[in-house]
Amino acid sequence: MHSKRDSLLKRWHSLTISPKKCQQKWGKAYWKDVDGYREVNCVDCPSFNAQRQQCSIGFGSPLRKCVVSSIEAHLHDCQNQQVLEIGFGKFMLARNLIKRSGGTWTGIEPRRPKSEVAQLGKGGYGHATYIPFEDKTFDKIFAIQSIEHWGQKAGAALREPSDYAACFAEVARVLKPGGTIYFDAPIHFHGHEMFIMGDLAKIQSYLMNEHWTNVHIEKWREQSAPLKPYDPPQNVLVDWPIEITSYPETQVKLAREKGSVWMIAITAEKT
Ligand SMILES: C[S@@+](CC[C@H](N)C(=O)[O-])C[C@H]1O[C@@H](n2cnc3c(N)ncnc32)[C@H](O)[C@@H]1O
Repeated sequence: MHSKRDSLLKRWHSLTISPKKCQQKWGKAYWKDVDGYREVNCVDCPSFNAQRQQCSIGFGSPLRKCVVSSIEAHLHDCQNQQVLEIGFGKFMLARNLIKRSGGTWTGIEPRRPKSEVAQLGKGGYGHATYIPFEDKTFDKIFAIQSIEHWGQKAGAALREPSDYAACFAEVARVLKPGGTIYFDAPIHFHGHEMFIMGDLAKIQSYLMNEHWTNVHIEKWREQSAPLKPYDPPQNVLVDWPIEITSYPETQVKLAREKGSVWMIAITAEKT
């Protein structure tokens, strides 16, 4: 349950977010290159307050603190860009930051009524395999804690799980050449099994084709020390047997017993 204080701080942060301050905070490389990935370990993260030994993002779960930090790092410089958010939900931080930095925010969300037609500069109905815009419309396309749900089986009674190859093809269709993507998602948490199992090679495989270049995956909070690891809450574990069907039982047991929640941020450029 979110406390009232937590919601107020979250809203305040979103209302007062400053592209200039984000540039100052995130302008230098904040990751370490390790084995082909970019590690953002808590101890080296610009959001870590070394004096207090805590994350300086004062609201949200440990995962949401990473989400907020990564949005600040990736979306503070959108001047003159057409930017599309897929699965925008109710979290306003990214759209506020994009607008404030001089970009145009457009959103699509499958939970909006179909009659709410998406238009440039507004939110409306759409989803990852139905982006209701012309080819090559956007400079940047992003999704916050959404991509892991596109292909999930839990809740399939309400909507069909999407095929990731089709989602990425649709994203590539509406992105301009040289345009970029940013998708963040939790690991060992919920959604499609490749995210629960932390199968980064499988996730990356969808971007290993002629449409994409400069593919990077940042690993946020995989190394959380000196902060505590964030264990998956009980309520997300109930979906694991529904989602996970392609991995050996030993690997699933290991993830269940030893896996703590961390986050990836996937970025790439359209060729
Ligand atoms: C956990 S919520 C995150 C919402 C918001 N981005 C945030 O960070 O709070 C996941 C979002 O993804 C959306 N979503 C789920 N499946 C989707 C799909 N196939 N295409 C687009 N959005 C989808 C959901 O409707 C929901 O808004």
